[in-house]
Amino acid sequence: MNPQERIADLRTALHEHNHRYYILDQPTISDFEFDQLLKELEQLERQFPEFYDENSPTMRVGGSVVKSFNTVVHQYPMLSLGNTYNWEELADWIGRVEKLAPESTFVCELKYDGVAIGIRYEHGKLVQAVTRGDGTQGDDITTNVRTIRSVPLQLNGPAPESFEIRGEIVLPHAAFERLNAARRDEGQAEFANPRNCASGTLKLQDSSVVASRGLDAYLYFVLPDGILADTHSKTIEAAGDLGFKVPRKSDKYIAECAGIEEIKAFIEYWDVERHHLPFDIDGIVIKVNDYKAQQDLGFTAKSPRWATAFKFKAEQVSTRLEHVNYQVGRTGAITPVANLKPVWLGGTTVKRASLHNQDQIALLDLHEGDEVFVEKGGEIIPKVVGIKLDARAEGAVPVAFISHCPECQTELVRKEGEAQHYCPNASGCTPQISGRIQHFISRKAMDIMGMGSETVQLFVEKGLIHSIADLYDLTYDQIIALEGFKEKSVTNLLEGLNASKQIPFDRVLFGLGIRHVGATVAKKLARHFGSMTELLQADFETLKAVDDIGEVIALQLTEYFNEDANLEELARLQQAGLQFEMEVINTPSEGPLVGAKVVVSGVFESFSRDELKSLIETLGGQNVSSISSKTTYVVAGEGMGPSKKAKAEKLGIPVLNEEEFKTLIQ
Ligand code: IVH
Repeated sequence: MNPQERIADLRTALHEHNHRYYILDQPTISDFEFDQLLKELEQLERQFPEFYDENSPTMRVGGSVVKSFNTVVHQYPMLSLGNTYNWEELADWIGRVEKLAPESTFVCELKYDGVAIGIRYEHGKLVQAVTRGDGTQGDDITTNVRTIRSVPLQLNGPAPESFEIRGEIVLPHAAFERLNAARRDEGQAEFANPRNCASGTLKLQDSSVVASRGLDAYLYFVLPDGILADTHSKTIEAAGDLGFKVPRKSDKYIAECAGIEEIKAFIEYWDVERHHLPFDIDGIVIKVNDYKAQQDLGFTAKSPRWATAFKFKAEQVSTRLEHVNYQVGRTGAITPVANLKPVWLGGTTVKRASLHNQDQIALLDLHEGDEVFVEKGGEIIPKVVGIKLDARAEGAVPVAFISHCPECQTELVRKEGEAQHYCPNASGCTPQISGRIQHFISRKAMDIMGMGSETVQLFVEKGLIHSIADLYDLTYDQIIALEGFKEKSVTNLLEGLNASKQIPFDRVLFGLGIRHVGATVAKKLARHFGSMTELLQADFETLKAVDDIGEVIALQLTEYFNEDANLEELARLQQAGLQFEMEVINTPSEGPLVGAKVVVSGVFESFSRDELKSLIETLGGQNVSSISSKTTYVVAGEGMGPSKKAKAEKLGIPVLNEEEFKTLIQ
């Protein structure tokens, strides 16, 4: 047999064994035999690089390292699901569906608590995998998804020429525990829960690390509708035949249900049984089975009317409060944290829970050594929700809030009307310094390539930097002297800093981390004042008079600009060459878009969505996200969802295509 044929045979065989092992759970060869075949293939591929195939089973181990992920616009927006938490709401939903689509039956499925993914296949091969992102566009994480063994690189049998399958990437408990144990041993921070860990893992740039983490994927949604079958349940079965890991009826992960009683039985079964699943779920998804009925029901702006999620109630457990410690954020905000006797809750061990602020501690009437109830909500950090009063030890003392910063011992302040305590020592308190610099370099602010949070922390600890402006004084010699830095990484970092000097003024302003000045407010201020000089001259009244700038923001700004240390820092940043100006946008007083509320949807040929949106603002219009009776125009690009279109038509709102929009503004 010639090498090309042998390579092809080995690939086919290994794809099949992979499928049997990871999807069907019915391997027919031993791990050893599998490894032998894989090794033979690896060796042949090395010897004959001309037969390279990115979908070869040898590619599962990863290896490619990407700098950053490309943004990809979803062909079909990635929507979310409506939620219900109780039987009445669920019954209402079922009632509405049965009224609008009387023939419909339902399908119940697990609601996987992972990271949503859309995977595109063309000619039977995986071509692209994209995260949800903001629902309209996400990150291209194909290299990472390829390493997940249960995601087929190549499909079995004839598949449609092109389609997308969506699902959830999860990290099974066993892999999560293994990873955290290893991190504990190495003194690294542990992951809070499997979903966070899955999400963090998928953002890694080195796919071989991703490959080692043991992610899994469950797929539950095929697009376009009807490409495999005319109902959802048949589609899922057909996707299973193509080689995807889909929920199986035999595992009870999916069931067809005729009405409310069967749906309830499915939910009640899993509310108990979920504790024995090897991965996390956070509810049950109920879908209308027939695509025709789904279409009749349609969508709201955010989610389909043909599906809903029944969320399980957060679980509660009780455990002992060991002590309270206090974290200092980048703005100096103090957050009290309850350190608990470790307790198993909803799939993870909980050791800490947020206590929010002094009022919350008072409200709970928390005493030292109390037996407390903790609950996991939607957040990563569990909450203390109550106290077992009858378990309180006699003579226990109430938890007293600290008066001085745990990091720098400065006396804390609490402003009138605010719940949070602050450490006012902004320029001398280490976590505040690191936090501010970390915010400054972050992606939404200055996006400094080659630099991450750990690097900042290290530089601060080593005394190389004390403020944002110090970043621009860093030298090659200073950094290379630190452990772990090689020539390349130092050059990258310095280049990243240099490149950040081109980042527009509004992002510089956002990067300063002034309280209440988020990205949107920063953009408004930058556009309104046009330069740092003008902004610095504005007094409280002038600031307050700017659209959407209220008293709170105006006050924060004046306070910030009254501090000499801040002015000094700004002067140094300007000296370093950062952008301190941008074009002032004078909103016109007349024109077709003045006062118009515009919804932009889809993708455009001559502008990016952001360009189009800023053009609308420049012309005096206002961008709004969803269509209502108050909308003036909808500007529709490629791929605008049918539901939006239908809604606009129903409300009689003009829908303009790209050309019509251009004509209008000319
Ligand atoms: S169907 C049009 N099915 O939950 C919406 N979603 O909170 C189609 N999810 O966006 C989604 N398990 O990321 C569907 N069996 C399941 C799911 C599921 C988890 C996720 C999905 C969705 C989110 C909504």
